[in-house]
Amino acid sequence: MCEKWRQKLHIEPPHGWLNDPNGLCWFNGKYHVFFQYSPDSANGGGRKCWGHFESPNLLRWDFVGTAFFPDIPEDRDGVYSGSAIIVNDTMELFYTGNVKESGDHDYITSGRGANVIRVSSKDGRSFSEKRVLLRNSDYPEYCSCHIRDPKLWEKNGKYCMILGARTLSDEGCVLIYESDNLDEWRFEKKISVPGFGYMWECPDMFDMGGQRLLSVSPQGLTHTEYANQNVYSSGYFRVNGDSLGDFEEWDYGFDFYAPQTFCAPDGRRILIGWMGIGDIPYTNPTVTLGWQHCLTLPREITVSNDGAVLQNPIRELELLRSGEFTVSDSECKRVAPPFELYGEINGSFEINFDNSAALSYDGKIFRLEFTNDNVGCGRTVRNCTIEKCGNIRVIADMSSLEIYLDGGRKVLSTRFYPENKSVNLCARGIFLKGWNLNGMEVNIIGE
Ligand code: FRU
Repeated sequence: MCEKWRQKLHIEPPHGWLNDPNGLCWFNGKYHVFFQYSPDSANGGGRKCWGHFESPNLLRWDFVGTAFFPDIPEDRDGVYSGSAIIVNDTMELFYTGNVKESGDHDYITSGRGANVIRVSSKDGRSFSEKRVLLRNSDYPEYCSCHIRDPKLWEKNGKYCMILGARTLSDEGCVLIYESDNLDEWRFEKKISVPGFGYMWECPDMFDMGGQRLLSVSPQGLTHTEYANQNVYSSGYFRVNGDSLGDFEEWDYGFDFYAPQTFCAPDGRRILIGWMGIGDIPYTNPTVTLGWQHCLTLPREITVSNDGAVLQNPIRELELLRSGEFTVSDSECKRVAPPFELYGEINGSFEINFDNSAALSYDGKIFRLEFTNDNVGCGRTVRNCTIEKCGNIRVIADMSSLEIYLDGGRKVLSTRFYPENKSVNLCARGIFLKGWNLNGMEVNIIGE
């Protein structure tokens, strides 16, 4: 089987389909990454489960198997997205049990059950029975049946839970609940922005640099040349009391959605997204090989002195650097992924991959453009406005590029499918330093 597009740095399923990261946490000396997993089909059909990876260091990832199958009436049509919270040496997982009733339904205003379900684990591998905590009748009456993706945190001795939702008047919003014991939940409030999409998925809320951020993945935003270019979007608002600041996108590339954050034991806030989106007009040729999609690299979130939210690949990645190389104006270079590139920016430049994908900057607009459809597979152009961009860092894995601009002020993620195992790199107007990255294949130790 041709495995040239198997990622070496990124979490991807052994077979089948992956979407959102779920239940991210550090527990009992290990990082845990669960994910939306359809083991039966690379196109996402069949059972929707939670797959499970563990890592000692955020670099080596072991697939330890399928943690949850849809096997109770309240999650029979999908163990949908959710999160983890560690309480008293127990991993507490909360997710949405999706149910589709048979009959004549639109599955928006009727026919869909959205249950908040809790599971506990003492060892991160074996799980308690599933306990249903909230059902459709427990949500505010203005909600449609699209309510899902619980994310939890603890604040001032109370537990908070945020859910993504769609109202009956097609307004995207989040619902916030509170609890003293993780079992009984009181509805606190709804937060929304009028006219900003019909559904908000996969919410998250956390404090960063003295500022509260609300992260959501809205569906139904207006697409423009420089904003919300993808079918569905993903970004964050600054929260001030009950009002929200401007929406800032997490990522301007073709493939990014449904991120979730968690805290590493050293206090770093780490974000992992799905390097994919639903309902896209482009494709991933790994489908014919039996799998589709991966997660992004873990990114550390920080706030700059001027208040900008920055995303950078976790610093552990630097441990994988081996051979150093350079790419300058005069010479192209063949390099085998995975590798990393770094360059200081002085005005306009272009970096070209195999004459198939170009990264360029004109002093105001950064552009990611595919010129060979065999490599882009339907991906065309993505733009991002950035003034005074000081530097660029690129992490290239076997079939993805992650581009961090100006110390992580703007990020673009994309899948790309090079024809050979090495890539011909050419640069104009920029001097690039590069490192081979000692990529580690994902270990499969469970099924
Ligand atoms: C986002 C999402 C979530 C849902 C899950 C189902 O990609 O639609 O809202 O829980 O995927 O797989």
